[in-house]
Amino acid sequence: MHKLKLIGPFAQAVTMDNLPVKGPLSDDRLEIIDHAGILVNGEMIEAIGAFRELKSLTPKIEPVEGDFVVLPGMIDVHTHLCWSGSRAKDYAMRLSGSSYLEIARQGGGIWSTVTKTREVGMEELAGLTALHANRLLHQGTTTVEVKSGYGLNADSERKILNAIRKANEITKNDLIPTCLAAHIKPKDFEGSAREYLNYLIQDLLPGIKAEKLSHRVDIYVDEGAFNIQDALYYLNAAKALGFDVVVHADQFKPGGAQLAVEVGALSADHLEASSDEDIALLARSKVIPVALPGASLGLGAGFAPARKLLNTGAPLVIASDWNPGSAPMGNLLMQAAILGIYEKLTMAETLAAITCRAASALRLTDRGVLKPGMLADFIAFPCGDYREILYNQGGMGPEIIWKRGRLVTGKR
Ligand code: NIG
Ligand code: FE
Repeated sequence: MHKLKLIGPFAQAVTMDNLPVKGPLSDDRLEIIDHAGILVNGEMIEAIGAFRELKSLTPKIEPVEGDFVVLPGMIDVHTHLCWSGSRAKDYAMRLSGSSYLEIARQGGGIWSTVTKTREVGMEELAGLTALHANRLLHQGTTTVEVKSGYGLNADSERKILNAIRKANEITKNDLIPTCLAAHIKPKDFEGSAREYLNYLIQDLLPGIKAEKLSHRVDIYVDEGAFNIQDALYYLNAAKALGFDVVVHADQFKPGGAQLAVEVGALSADHLEASSDEDIALLARSKVIPVALPGASLGLGAGFAPARKLLNTGAPLVIASDWNPGSAPMGNLLMQAAILGIYEKLTMAETLAAITCRAASALRLTDRGVLKPGMLADFIAFPCGDYREILYNQGGMGPEIIWKRGRLVTGKR
């Protein structure tokens, strides 16, 4: 049997190739191949180009009927999709005027999801996680970062990371786990925040590293979570153990972005409260700023200063932050399109923020771009002009999805 398969033709292929990681992007920087085909070898892209020319390379053709625009599969670099329970009650309270912090103080918030997530076994949690990951896959997200953080003791955090590992075997999506045991100080921990972090450094992180449950560590720095000094101490310890570190920074109060730069974090995520100085600092550093419009929409709050970040020369990645509390929507394309119109991002900037630039935030060099040697992860939208995609503001999702060279089928 011939090992090469040609998929197409596509009215347009937007390759996302040859784009810089940092700074503004005008739409004319996008490489667009008309009447394109993608030649696939197993899980990888062998070639991309004019369908007519690639046809001579294989007799095996997977035809695409009608007008479709193909893009790399989306990469969601920040989610909390391993959870149990619902926070619809929190949402109703927010609609009645209570704030995120007030709700947490009144027994809702992160701690209520911790209680629910601790109650379920690893297998059940893996099933829930795979369901969430499958929903994203059908929306066109073919790589998803997933944080722990609803366990908040060594055993429960390990259970969650094991559930994410198991879910990765169940779903066709690729899950990248991150340890967020430093989400908040758990209510049942007797001791200071620093003592809780020391407990994680001693009793959790080395085992996670040894068992390869995650190579990334995150911390939530904010009022109601951890302070800058404790976070600096914790992230330096995590780095010394060999982890990549990332920060939930500047969601409500500034300080987190500066910390991310000081500690050499891979990304600083949220940034709704970042100042102009923070933005300049990020732009001069290697830290990748990640905007989370889903949290702004879930809280009815302002967006991260995405336009300013790009204009100052920083990169911009957009992620969904999908979680049961602050960001219950979990639709990356819709959120990116909405951030785009509010922040005046070009289509190239928005598309890069959920594909090629997102890959850099996870240090992944094998996806996010359609070119030879990359994973055959791509998504096709039912239109003939790529501008229709963001113009539809998420209302038009991809109709055909290929993950590692195979068609994604089954229930949406
Ligand atoms: O990124 N802000 C902290 N953590 C999450 C929310 C988690 C939750 O509310 O359950 C966030 O918004
Ligand atoms: Fe988050």
